[in-house]
Amino acid sequence: MYVTLKTVLEEAERLNMAIGAFNTHNLEMLPAILKAAVNQKTPVIVQTSCGTANYVGHRNLVAVCRSMAEEYGVNVVLHLDHCKEFDEIRKAIDAGYSSVMFDGSALPLKENILGTRRVVDYAKTHGNVSVEAELGTVGGTEDGIVVSQAEVRYTEPSDAKEFVEKTGIDALAVAIGTNHGQYKSKTEINFERLAQIHSAVHIPLVIHGGTGVKDEDVKRVIDLGIRKFNVGTELLVGWNRKSKECYEKNKENVSNRENVMPCLEEIQSIVEHKISLFKNLQG
Ligand code: 13P
Repeated sequence: MYVTLKTVLEEAERLNMAIGAFNTHNLEMLPAILKAAVNQKTPVIVQTSCGTANYVGHRNLVAVCRSMAEEYGVNVVLHLDHCKEFDEIRKAIDAGYSSVMFDGSALPLKENILGTRRVVDYAKTHGNVSVEAELGTVGGTEDGIVVSQAEVRYTEPSDAKEFVEKTGIDALAVAIGTNHGQYKSKTEINFERLAQIHSAVHIPLVIHGGTGVKDEDVKRVIDLGIRKFNVGTELLVGWNRKSKECYEKNKENVSNRENVMPCLEEIQSIVEHKISLFKNLQG
């Protein structure tokens, strides 16, 4: 079924697990992401940047996610990742996205609250769409925008409490040391800060920059309230490496499927591995 973020995160809370949220850059990646979720028997969150949404077409993405969710028999959320513009968010909601993220993390607290509140009001009155928002600053590179280490600010637990109470969001993205786009090294997570945020707020927490998180840290962050786990770069790097290998190896008049299908296998295997960790079954 095509479902909201709130629905799948409630289930994750009940089962003390996280739901994988995977960034796609095109329609082609979707079957691989969904098949991985089917094999792992969990719901899945497909997320797009505004850039991907405008490239593929919002309504096309909604239609394909709805149809594939039925075809594969899996619960799918379509989520708009990091969006700073109200009009872009409105476009996604009007087209049928079941979840959106307003990213006002660069704004002062009060402005972030007001901007987020505006999105929540629109989302709840136009199809009961879920809303994620962010407090603090995650480092790294996302869709070409670079946030330096000097700009990184961990989420303040007391601000988080006020923010959640005043906005009515469904999920809170936290800054606890992860970085977007970190794939050559691994992240040192500030578990103490995550524990403080977890005791201050009682809604699902979201980790960004999931590519850089060590496998052995996954259980610990889930036990501290992470319910949505974002992974983007690892899929992109996997696809691009495999694609390069195929295009170099295959003749130029070969069916394009010969170059694309190995990339899909790569994506599926990465997503399956991540989901197997996010189920939090170990130990
Ligand atoms: P990575 O690309 O670092 O995995 O982060 C994904 C993400 O957080 C999307 O918002």
